[in-house]
Amino acid sequence: MSAGALRHTFKRPLRSGSAEMPIVEGVRIVDEVETLPKEVRIFDTTLRDGEQTPGISFTKEQKLAIARQLAKLGVASIEAGFPAVSKGEFEAVKEIAGEGLGPEIVALARSNKHDIDRALDAGVDAIHVFIAASDIHLKYKLRMSREEALRRAVEAVEYAKSHGITVEFSPEDATRADLQYLYQMVKAVAEAGADRIDIPDTVGVMTPTRMKYLIKYILPAAQGKIVSVHCHNDFGLAVANSIAGIEAGAKQAHVTVNGIGERAGNAALEEVVAALEFLLNVRTGVNTKLLYETSVLVSEITGIPIPPNKPIVGANAFSHESGIHVHGVISNPFTYEPIRPEMVGQKRRIVLGKHSGRHGVEYALKTLGYPTEPDIVLKVLDEVKRLGDQGVRVDEDKLREIVEKILEERELTAS
Ligand code: KIV
Ligand code: ZN
Repeated sequence: MSAGALRHTFKRPLRSGSAEMPIVEGVRIVDEVETLPKEVRIFDTTLRDGEQTPGISFTKEQKLAIARQLAKLGVASIEAGFPAVSKGEFEAVKEIAGEGLGPEIVALARSNKHDIDRALDAGVDAIHVFIAASDIHLKYKLRMSREEALRRAVEAVEYAKSHGITVEFSPEDATRADLQYLYQMVKAVAEAGADRIDIPDTVGVMTPTRMKYLIKYILPAAQGKIVSVHCHNDFGLAVANSIAGIEAGAKQAHVTVNGIGERAGNAALEEVVAALEFLLNVRTGVNTKLLYETSVLVSEITGIPIPPNKPIVGANAFSHESGIHVHGVISNPFTYEPIRPEMVGQKRRIVLGKHSGRHGVEYALKTLGYPTEPDIVLKVLDEVKRLGDQGVRVDEDKLREIVEKILEERELTAS
């Protein structure tokens, strides 16, 4: 890519004050603008791939609660589970499918008649059929030739389609498969009637540049069907790879809330959606204001805490302590925040500690309804820094204690 291919686009004026407005302006690459879709389907797999997180198993009630929240959030598809794995899983998928939630309800199935029949019996709107495409999976897991896997993939898609259902097909471990074979498989299932083709980075080995290359390479084989990306996070690149695939023309992303899933997890719904909406101005159909509450719900149900530094939904994502940052944010939040916290259902937090400055203390005192005369602010600041040096966290209760003491002393001196 030549340096000349880069250009800055400043399509929208940077205005503060509107909570609705995506405000991030950035560098775009001319090539990417051409392939960037205007809309992307969000295919949530929290209840299927997310449930494959080691140690996680949802009850039917928990699955239903998450499915209802995902419907409220506005995802296009909910992969509710893998009906062939157990009776309980079948029942849960069936119940979700029967709720009439709005989003397309999807069930996973291997490329065989039994799995597809279980999915059909569960009454879902779409079946996600998969078979391995990489030689390592074919040889050591399925003990199957490439020809046999190709035949089974086509037969499975044809069988599912013969029931008039929407079919999405995934060549598992696509990113480690022989490229020409992958192309052949994608073309064959597209011709067999698959409605969408998903490209799974099953063990998370892609990089954004490779992902762009792969999606551009595979698009013609999909014969105009929607191409999707399914990225695992083994190297921490799942979100970046998903975005790269979309920039290359993929029109759907598989995601999970909080990025839960096998091993290091999947691409995080909240991060993919926020990047698409606010960085790339791509519509996802998701109500971004519900991202935080969705993340909290899944964290509570799974018992997996949200790391404080997690983008978008972490407690620190919109927290500020350092004096310079707090001063900036108080005068104009966009100085140190890329988007308004309310846009993702979050809150701004001004944290007090040894890095704090006058403005932070003044802001915190005002928020709690205390006087903000300069002498009080300075005394509180001195105490906050003294405690900070000793490693003591100044939370709301501690701040109240400090200021009450200072006010009491002032009253005593005055009387
Ligand atoms: O990661 C993966 O390959 C999967 C498949 C079932 C699509 O989850
Ligand atoms: Zn997966």
